[in-house]
Amino acid sequence: MSDIKKIKREYLEKLNRELNQDSINQIKTELFGKNGSISNEFKKLGSVAVEERKKFAADLNLVKEELQEKISKKFHELEIKEINEKLKNEKVDVTLPERSFEQGKIHPVSQVIDEISSIFSEIGFSVEEGPDVENEYNNFTALNTPDNHPARDMHDTFYLDNEKKLLLRTHTSPVQVRTMLKGKPPFKIIAPGRTYRSDSDQTHAPMFHQVEGLHIDKNINMGHLKGCLNYFIKEFFEVDKIKMRFRPSHFPFTEPSAEVDIGYEIKDGKIVIGEGDKWLEILGCGMVHPNVLKNVKVDTSKFQGYAFGIGIDRLGMLKYGINDLRAFFETDYRWINHFGFDPLDVPSNYRGLSR
Ligand code: PHE
Repeated sequence: MSDIKKIKREYLEKLNRELNQDSINQIKTELFGKNGSISNEFKKLGSVAVEERKKFAADLNLVKEELQEKISKKFHELEIKEINEKLKNEKVDVTLPERSFEQGKIHPVSQVIDEISSIFSEIGFSVEEGPDVENEYNNFTALNTPDNHPARDMHDTFYLDNEKKLLLRTHTSPVQVRTMLKGKPPFKIIAPGRTYRSDSDQTHAPMFHQVEGLHIDKNINMGHLKGCLNYFIKEFFEVDKIKMRFRPSHFPFTEPSAEVDIGYEIKDGKIVIGEGDKWLEILGCGMVHPNVLKNVKVDTSKFQGYAFGIGIDRLGMLKYGINDLRAFFETDYRWINHFGFDPLDVPSNYRGLSR
């Protein structure tokens, strides 16, 4: 029998036994390694007589292929066997308790900001932002608030330096200034964000949230302001009818100025918006003072408009029945679990921000 046939017989027989990964690899080396039997047969090729060489090479190649095929088949079988064994041994025990996971909740303030932004974006307002740390000029001076105005008093304002040049913004109105300084009219923006005043009780926290509104264009008047706020409040509280009251007020940066109250009543321990004879103040507003427009280089002979500042936290308290403002910012996990919103729940009046 030729060497080739012998090799073939010997190794086919070996490969028919029960083998593991290592022993298959061992066989592979014995056959095809540097000094492997098949490799050595190939080395003989040169010394085989010319007339036999063709047949020798053909036989050798055939055997080589046959053995290689057998080896990969063995590897494949082994793989299948391993998988089957794993499936048999590693059963999924569906009776085991599930792995616990915590899903976060959306804070009511974030939720309310989203709702407000969505409602105003429907009627053409875009959203602007400004920093919490402001300079005295944007927060007061540009807003026509003279040096001796009580709002500048240390009592209300958190100053960050002795010269009283830097402060934590006391309202979102400086975003009006920033927006008008960097662009050209018309302007139609809202600016939600954090605001700070040295104040703390059940309805006041040293950090709270406002949303500023600003609409400057040709011929904008108080009627537009009223219509816009009326629309917003109805949409926000999801009611068809509201009672709204404009009370004359004073802000240095608007003239005339008003504070807006909405009518409500308490029915079965719950606040009902739009009925009853109780009033709750929710915002300040007015027609932007010409001095403010001049400070930000808006031509007052062509442009005018209104501004408003709404207390976001108050709106959230009303809509979602939360009675202590301070709880908003105490980061109590049980509170957020109770009052927070499921991130996958889309509120009924949410229409998306991009429309
Ligand atoms: N900035 C005012 C406040 O914080 C609210 C306001 C904004 C009033 C815009 C008029 C116009 O009380």
